[in-house]
Amino acid sequence: MDRVLRPVHRWVWSDTGRRVRKLLAFAEVETDGGRDILRAAEVTPDPLLRRLYLAHAIDELHHGVLFRERGAELLRVRGGRASALFNGNPLPGGHGLDDLSIEGEADARLLAFLHVAEKSAAGRFATYRELVADDPATRAIFDEILRDEVFHMNYTYTQLARISPRSYRRQVWLARGSRLWRRVVRLAAGVGALMGTVFLTLLYFVLMPPFAWLARRAAKREPEGWAPVSAGADAPPTSQY
Ligand SMILES: [Fe+2]
Ligand SMILES: [Fe+2]
Repeated sequence: MDRVLRPVHRWVWSDTGRRVRKLLAFAEVETDGGRDILRAAEVTPDPLLRRLYLAHAIDELHHGVLFRERGAELLRVRGGRASALFNGNPLPGGHGLDDLSIEGEADARLLAFLHVAEKSAAGRFATYRELVADDPATRAIFDEILRDEVFHMNYTYTQLARISPRSYRRQVWLARGSRLWRRVVRLAAGVGALMGTVFLTLLYFVLMPPFAWLARRAAKREPEGWAPVSAGADAPPTSQY
């Protein structure tokens, strides 16, 4: 999928304004993900998982700092100018950890979710790394983060196989399915919002002109200035009726 979207990724990363916004958006997602995994370290009953989650959370929080600092630096260099048009991110963030929820989640499901998210992050960051070849400092950050994401992808799979040796493959497929489903729902919501905008704009331009024409025609028929009261209207001028 990312290979198909490569021209869009290239377009996003080719502009400094969009690059800054993307880096800052990644910083948010990584930091949020780090906090959630920290929570997972608190609630898991498994001591080995607690240590691994803790190391993982520290990595993600560190990624957040790296992205934020690089984004801020780029913003300083270019003097804070931002082109308002087409400045958004048409594609989802790199990590996909924004869908993560910890409370009431069994370790097996969480590990499967993390494995799928980390795997897709590793693929994405490898693509982005190539697209910022003109910017060695940003590229170095992707290099560093990519190494961590590969470690996250591998340890989550190994631990999943350890804690549920019978069903770990099924868990990964379920996690992939629910991730895909969430994507479909998000895409459908986006398409719905876009269609709403298009239809309302069309309605405005189709329905408004006849009413404007009728209103202008009615205005022409009205006499200008004061008009005499019609003969039947004999209510006293102080009455509100
Ligand atoms: Fe990360
Ligand atoms: Fe990660």
